[in-house]
Amino acid sequence: MASLEVDLSGIEPGSTVTVKWRGKPVFIRHRTEEDIKLANSVDLSTLRDPQPDSERVKNPEWLIVVGVCTHLGCIPLPNAGDFGGWFCPCHGSHYDISGRIRKGPAPYNLEVPTYNFLDENKLMVG
Ligand code: FES
Repeated sequence: MASLEVDLSGIEPGSTVTVKWRGKPVFIRHRTEEDIKLANSVDLSTLRDPQPDSERVKNPEWLIVVGVCTHLGCIPLPNAGDFGGWFCPCHGSHYDISGRIRKGPAPYNLEVPTYNFLDENKLMVG
């Protein structure tokens, strides 16, 4: 299956870009120090799909997730919702800055695709 190379150099801290990979949106969030702190300040026992942030990222500055809501497949909106991450407008699921489900009907966290960093500014998804 096709891989996708993404140049990260133009993505400012605090912003999210969406790329297409295998017909699906993939969100790439350049996280700020604050985002990273927020992602790590969560009590895992309160999570529906408990996963530490460290298991969801390879480099804390970059969160890479498939942009498909785990409820019924809508595309969540970035920089929205109650937890600093994404909000799915279809039925009101809120995801945090690690892409973890925090509120609403979605059962699971946003999926982390297979990816690697080729160098500091180059990402290979898939
Ligand atoms: Fe996202 Fe239902 S599809 S909340």
